[in-house]
Amino acid sequence: MAKRIKIGLIGCGMISGSHINGYLAHPEHAELVAVCDTVDANAKRRHAEVLSGAASRASAAKAEAEKADAAEARERLTARSALLAAYQDTGVKIFGDYNEMLRECELDAISIAAPPFVHEPATVAAANAGKHVFCEKPMARTATEARNMRDACDKAGVKLAYQSGGTCLDATSYAIRNYITSGKLGDVYYGRLTSYRTRGRPNVDMFGFGRWFLNSVYSGGGTIYDTGVYLINRSIYLLGSPQPATISGVAYRGMLPAYTGEEINDVEEHASVFVRFTNGMSFTYENAWSSNMSGQPQGIFIFGSRGAFSNDALFLEKGTWDTDAQGNRRRYQGKLVETPLELPERDFADKFLDFLNACNSDAQPVSNGDMGVKVTEIMSGSLLSAKLGREITVDELYELEALRAEPTPGWPIP
Ligand SMILES: NC(=O)c1ccc[n+]([C@@H]2O[C@H](COP(=O)([O-])OP(=O)(O)OC[C@H]3O[C@@H](n4cnc5c(N)ncnc54)[C@H](O)[C@@H]3O)[C@@H](O)[C@H]2O)c1
Repeated sequence: MAKRIKIGLIGCGMISGSHINGYLAHPEHAELVAVCDTVDANAKRRHAEVLSGAASRASAAKAEAEKADAAEARERLTARSALLAAYQDTGVKIFGDYNEMLRECELDAISIAAPPFVHEPATVAAANAGKHVFCEKPMARTATEARNMRDACDKAGVKLAYQSGGTCLDATSYAIRNYITSGKLGDVYYGRLTSYRTRGRPNVDMFGFGRWFLNSVYSGGGTIYDTGVYLINRSIYLLGSPQPATISGVAYRGMLPAYTGEEINDVEEHASVFVRFTNGMSFTYENAWSSNMSGQPQGIFIFGSRGAFSNDALFLEKGTWDTDAQGNRRRYQGKLVETPLELPERDFADKFLDFLNACNSDAQPVSNGDMGVKVTEIMSGSLLSAKLGREITVDELYELEALRAEPTPGWPIP
């Protein structure tokens, strides 16, 4: 039986509830042993939620076990109920400092649900203490931070997953990736990603978000770090993890209504990026928190010499030649045929189980540190390129990042 991974949660704000539910859903694989937040009230609130969530799931599993016909199901659900009920006896510790949690608590892994500026120091500290890491998106504010995180985990021999895995862990994504990487789409030469919100800026058009979202020192950037990250991650996965070579970005901030809050707001609301990969593919990413565009197709579009993906729909080229009376080819009649994808017949783990399975095996999580570095190169590179007004190479990106301690500074209101 797989080892139950003992988890310490870092950051007990808005998204931490999904981590708690994610681990409580897999009591055979994970045990939440500690929660940590610099704000005591947040830690206490989530601490109470772990205990109440475990108790209600224990009762539900017990009730299901009583109703189950098969002995195997009864046994499994009874064991599950016991694992969840045990939370009330073993308890969950509360910390205000993750270094103290790492020192004092017997952990196998940490789960980071704190803002981006905490991701690198917490990951490196955990890796140095020999703990696996599940980290919220965006993986980091800069490519340098992301690379430090990946390298620290690789060096320590621990696993690093980052939360964007939900964009890859399904039969359709798996099938599209296989189609592309096996060459069935021919040469995959270009892709395009579009994702726009009409009005979706945290703390401007949408309320209840952490104050850090609009401050680049804490967040790394705006829309591309918050929402672009998901689809960029998916595109990198679908293409078979190509390495970005050069990045050219533009960014804009100044959508109406203007921000009137008192917090620092210096992040981009729109970013467009053109990336060349080392394998010759290229990709355009267009992403906005706020735009006046509507009715345009959104998602990921991938162009190959034999076919294309328009989001999840596969189109294959099945044209024919017109011939003359002598049988000479005269004209090619191109034709695109929408073709059903061959989906694998297997279950896919959710992002938390994918991480827990990786902790217990030689496998890497699907959304892993290596992918996170490439995604962060694109995000950070796009804003640096936009600031410089020219294309940059990925090597140059690291050189430029080394010149400053903080992420790319903000965007002036025009
Ligand atoms: N809010 C969302 O809808 C959402 C969705 C998906 C992913 N995320 C990602 O999750 C992360 C957290 O976002 P959130 O919305 O929950 O933010 P939040 O501001 O609601 O919560 C962050 C929590 O982290 C705590 N914290 C800050 N520094 C800390 C430290 N050094 N040690 C321990 N705790 C610390 C804060 O006190 C706060 O309780 C971000 O990376 C974000 O991009 C958020």
